Amino acid sequence: MITPVDPTTTQAWATLTSLRDQLQPDLRAWFDEQPNRVAEFTFDIADLHVDLSKNLVGTDVMEALLRLADEVDVAGRREAMFSGEHINVTEDRAVLHTALRLPRDAELEVDGQDVVADVHEVLDRMYAFAEKVRSGEWVGVTGKRIETVVNIGIGGSDLGPVMVYEALLPYKLDSIKCRFISNIDPSDCWEKTHDLDPETTMFIVASKTFTTLETLTNARMAREWLLAGLADAGAVDGSAEEDRDAVAKHFVAVSTALDKVADFGIDPDNAFGFWDWVGGRYSVDSAVGLPVLISIGPDGFRDFLAGFHAVDTHFRTEDPDSNVPLLMGLLNIWYVNFLGAESHAVLPYAQYLHRFAAYLQQLTMESNGKSVRWDGTPVTCDTGEIFWGEPGTNGQHAFYQLIHQGTRLIPADFITVANPAHPVQDGDADVHALFLANFFAQTAALAFGKTEDEVRAEGTAEQVVPARVFKGNRPTTSIMAPALTPSVVGQLIALYEHITFVQGVVWGIDSFDQWGVELGKKLAMEIAPAVSGDTEALVTQDGSTQSLVGWYLKNRN
Ligand code: F6P
Repeated sequence: MITPVDPTTTQAWATLTSLRDQLQPDLRAWFDEQPNRVAEFTFDIADLHVDLSKNLVGTDVMEALLRLADEVDVAGRREAMFSGEHINVTEDRAVLHTALRLPRDAELEVDGQDVVADVHEVLDRMYAFAEKVRSGEWVGVTGKRIETVVNIGIGGSDLGPVMVYEALLPYKLDSIKCRFISNIDPSDCWEKTHDLDPETTMFIVASKTFTTLETLTNARMAREWLLAGLADAGAVDGSAEEDRDAVAKHFVAVSTALDKVADFGIDPDNAFGFWDWVGGRYSVDSAVGLPVLISIGPDGFRDFLAGFHAVDTHFRTEDPDSNVPLLMGLLNIWYVNFLGAESHAVLPYAQYLHRFAAYLQQLTMESNGKSVRWDGTPVTCDTGEIFWGEPGTNGQHAFYQLIHQGTRLIPADFITVANPAHPVQDGDADVHALFLANFFAQTAALAFGKTEDEVRAEGTAEQVVPARVFKGNRPTTSIMAPALTPSVVGQLIALYEHITFVQGVVWGIDSFDQWGVELGKKLAMEIAPAVSGDTEALVTQDGSTQSLVGWYLKNRN
């Protein structure tokens, strides 16, 4: 195993520390003094136009960050990932989500397996299946076409499909809608099914492991709901054979554990596989994307995958000083490790991206929320900042106050598109242009602020002047695309996947395992009998848990 380089021992780290000590951020002056600043820090990556110029860096910091990337060997680790080395060391797995979007004529053999052929074999089956569902050739047990697809999954088997489905609603086939059940809170399953017609509903059970408690419980509840509804309608007679036939017509699965899919009663012919080298949070471009594919169709899905691939190619081949995922990952290192940022806001000015921040939370925090490095030694600096956000302009009327005037440094990514899916006028005003005016205004306000003199010049009463000053120098990155196409959504996801990767390499951590979620899962199974009233199980719990469970038992109906 290659030992991770301790970033804090590198020369670049020392340089960055001294640059940080001398730093006097002054974006107003920097923009005045550096006429080339915008050009120097603006890049195009596939369809994405990325302006990094309002970040708290100059050429000196950027160069030192790039030297840091060199010293910790980001390029070597990147090549190891793309070529299928087992860089997920704690699970001894390759990390090959990038292979999911390789074109058919690409070549990649990993562990003796032709990965590209495997990927395209599943894609072809998915495309054929999606066409049947979309065209109405695939019918439910009573001969009716499918009108609602309900995805049952959680974490990576939910967040990606939901986010992309919502992002690409303008590309959706009118006759089919998708819903998503994730939470084991029974209200979720009830809300998503109670008004549906079982005869026209199809469930996709998506689980990489096919062992996840929430998903399997919801899948069983959905199966009960389906069979009960079909029996009520006289569509099945309750015999095992008719139930099996109904499940075969109304349930499909997505998993790496196809044996467990069969045990659940789903016909293996209706199962779409993927591989252990795809992490759950990196899986929306695998068979996990099936709801998206049914919604937008094979051509749209191909476009989606091509978007990822364009950014993969950029990340793998572009020179470091114009390599956008590398630069953005390094900027995050600068903010977290040198300027003390604890969180990072992602603010899409595109309503269709309203689940993007939720999606990124799993991608970034499940990947980089770690305290040990890939060789088991403790990390040597802070890792894993908190990602959060909401679409603009809603966020402006909620939490932007803190970003503008609070005491914390919160780097923020602003994302938008030039062309909306639904252009409309309000009188003479183009509403999207008005929306974009907010996008441009916010990053300018955050960067350049408003001085005391400017506030006074507006005739503000003296005692209110301090409250109305904006210090500025609040860093932002602006990302713009021509439109929110399937390709652009793929590009955005791949961009953040690689940003996350770069940060993980600098910190020396395995960004592809997630052991931190295991303890709570195990304890839930141990506590479950106590919650069901088993007093012997209850007394083995700690005092607080006993008291809380006791309160619950007394108060439930
Ligand atoms: O518990 C965390 C996790 O393992 C995530 O990494 C994963 O995306 C999610 O659970 C769901 O897992 P699965 O797809 O195996 O059901």
